[in-house]
Amino acid sequence: MATSIIERPKEKFAQTQRKDLWWLEPLVYFVGLSCFLGYATWAAFQGKNYEWGPYLSPFYSPLITVKWWNLSPAFLILWVPAGFRATCYYYRKAYYRSFFMDPPACAVSEGCKKYSGETNFPLILQNIHRYFLIGATVLLCFLWSDVIKAFNFNGHFGVGMGTMVLFANTFLLSMYSLSCHSFRHLIGGYKDGFKCGFQHDSYKGVSCLNEHHMFWAWTSLFMVGFADFYVRMLAMGIWMDIRLL
Ligand code: FES
Repeated sequence: MATSIIERPKEKFAQTQRKDLWWLEPLVYFVGLSCFLGYATWAAFQGKNYEWGPYLSPFYSPLITVKWWNLSPAFLILWVPAGFRATCYYYRKAYYRSFFMDPPACAVSEGCKKYSGETNFPLILQNIHRYFLIGATVLLCFLWSDVIKAFNFNGHFGVGMGTMVLFANTFLLSMYSLSCHSFRHLIGGYKDGFKCGFQHDSYKGVSCLNEHHMFWAWTSLFMVGFADFYVRMLAMGIWMDIRLL
């Protein structure tokens, strides 16, 4: 009893502190997402310096060059990962809080009186996320093929720093997709029980990844931007690739 009397003011102080700092999380989201969006938009508009040796920037993969398209080839494919991230359950929370302050955080009152969540137009369109998952999975196949190509230096096996960067990027993007809430539903989330042991194990594995979806979301976001930056700097001759093997 004595312990609880002593600890109660401390707990109250900690709760007050957390309440006062509710703005910190939206601010971090705002800065992180704005930096990425700014860089990705700039890189997509460039339309050049996206490949060097066996490396291809993930912003331009698969590389589609057709005569009738005069803009940057990045725009032909970037709408898929952009749509996938924009409708992601985790990012929705992040940008609702940081860009729209609606709601700004848990247990913080809202500005508007009527809150309909995502049940009305246009936010109901966020349900399209499951279809973007299919598109993102197709793009992942191309990214893995880029990783394989990144081991090929003029017909000889090799490993460069760029190989490792592209590998890390594709690995993190795969983890991000595998930990997706829609994928978890697809694997078995829609079921009340499991008869098949394999499906149950798969569901448990995906659930385990899903618990860390925020981690995969941020690390893959940083890495995909860095992978483009790395290849771009090589293509512009600003730095040299390091050959490891
Ligand atoms: S919920 Fe985040 S990628 Fe699907």
